[in-house]
Amino acid sequence: MNMGFITSSYKSPTNLQLLSFFFLLFNLHASSQSTNSSITHGAMIRDGEIIVSPGEVFALGFFSPTNSSSRYVGIWYYQIPDQTVTWVANRDAPISGNFGVFGIRNGSLSLSDANGTIYWSTDSFPSAGNLTAMLLDTGNFMLSTVADAGDDQNALWQSCTDPTDTYLPNMRVYMNITRGDSVSFVSWRTSSDPSRGNYSMEIDPRGAPQIISWDESRRRIWRSGQWNQQIFTGIPQMRSLFLSGFRLVPVNDDVMYFIFNNPNATPFMRFRINSTGEIEQLTWDEGRLEWVVSLALAFHSMPTV
Ligand SMILES: *[C@@H]1O[C@H](CO)[C@@H](O)[C@H](O)[C@H]1NC(C)=O
Ligand SMILES: *[C@@H]1O[C@H](CO)[C@@H](O)[C@H](O)[C@H]1NC(C)=O
Ligand SMILES: *[C@@H]1O[C@H](CO)[C@@H](O)[C@H](O)[C@H]1NC(C)=O
Ligand SMILES: *[C@@H]1O[C@H](CO)[C@@H](O)[C@H](O)[C@H]1NC(C)=O
Ligand SMILES: *[C@@H]1O[C@H](CO)[C@@H](O)[C@H](O)[C@H]1NC(C)=O
Ligand SMILES: *[C@@H]1O[C@H](CO)[C@@H](O)[C@H](O)[C@H]1NC(C)=O
Ligand SMILES: *[C@@H]1O[C@H](CO)[C@@H](O)[C@H](O)[C@H]1NC(C)=O
Ligand SMILES: *[C@@H]1O[C@H](CO)[C@@H](O)[C@H](O)[C@H]1NC(C)=O
Repeated sequence: MNMGFITSSYKSPTNLQLLSFFFLLFNLHASSQSTNSSITHGAMIRDGEIIVSPGEVFALGFFSPTNSSSRYVGIWYYQIPDQTVTWVANRDAPISGNFGVFGIRNGSLSLSDANGTIYWSTDSFPSAGNLTAMLLDTGNFMLSTVADAGDDQNALWQSCTDPTDTYLPNMRVYMNITRGDSVSFVSWRTSSDPSRGNYSMEIDPRGAPQIISWDESRRRIWRSGQWNQQIFTGIPQMRSLFLSGFRLVPVNDDVMYFIFNNPNATPFMRFRINSTGEIEQLTWDEGRLEWVVSLALAFHSMPTV
């Protein structure tokens, strides 16, 4: 059965390579940047300021995509020279001009401009008390009480349950078994426009779960084959790729989540659904200093769906 592969050339970096990569980057950055990882209640970050995760893996702040002057709040890899955005807050509500402020006010995390117009916000938790929002080395950004800072079990809101187009290692993809759906990843419209594009990817948890991608008219364009506790059966390359790093974890009768957490894997690996509808696994090549497509799951040679 042809499940639509076009490439597969995964190469796992050695620990030594990773170590030298970190060493190089620490020398470049460690002395010159603050490493605040949190935004506390009442504090704001302005356009031009960033926060950085404790191990300096990810940064959060304002950015403009290539060939765009619109301003967005997003998360990117702090150490990778080519700004690679993994999450966008205001994807459908860009700010024009450098007047954005992002922070916790009145029990919610929000993005506004100088006039107080709100472009994006989480739900409000007015009675939760003193809140803090913390960026973790997994690329997850979470709003919680000060007492629960960094504890993803007790987060009030977290970016991994409100993703953009990118799946990162250790991110939980929550599924509602009763409803038969999951958190949805939606492509950027184009490479310079992060607004919701034509393609989405979800996990269908009914029966043995499988990954499904959809086009703009909600037609299924690709599926992974069912999860057999180790791999998705339509992706035979998964066995060697992931060394069983994927797990399906039940939470209760309604909810389970999917997670990739192979501790030997590089943190500089991501999956995304791109603006032309392909699901790609990309790995940072520290020799060539570029992202390499390790696996591309294309819908052009789609099996029967
Ligand atoms: C980082 O921490 C310092 C000291 O607490 C503070 O003055 C500064 O505003 C913080 N920066 C950001 C971006 O939060
Ligand atoms: C804060 O939130 C509460 C509850 O949603 C609302 O009643 C109140 O008007 C808000 N205050 C401000 C200043 O936005
Ligand atoms: C704020 O409002 C003023 C007056 O309506 C307007 O001229 C200005 O462009 C606004 N600024 C922003 C950042 O929206
Ligand atoms: C909220 O937490 C911050 C940081 O821990 C602290 O400085 C501040 O006093 C706290 N505010 C309240 C109202 O508890
Ligand atoms: C899952 O979906 C069911 C049916 O719509 C709903 O009753 C339930 O609250 C959902 N569970 C969660 C945790 O969202
Ligand atoms: C940006 O614009 C240049 C020149 O038009 C083009 O070659 C390049 O592909 C564009 N990049 C993106 C990401 O759209
Ligand atoms: C997205 O869908 C619209 C409407 O069907 C189409 O015009 C456009 O070319 C599509 N864009 C991409 C990148 O597929
Ligand atoms: C999407 O991924 C496929 C497969 O890697 C690639 O051929 C295509 O150029 C990508 N599209 C964009 C817009 O990056």
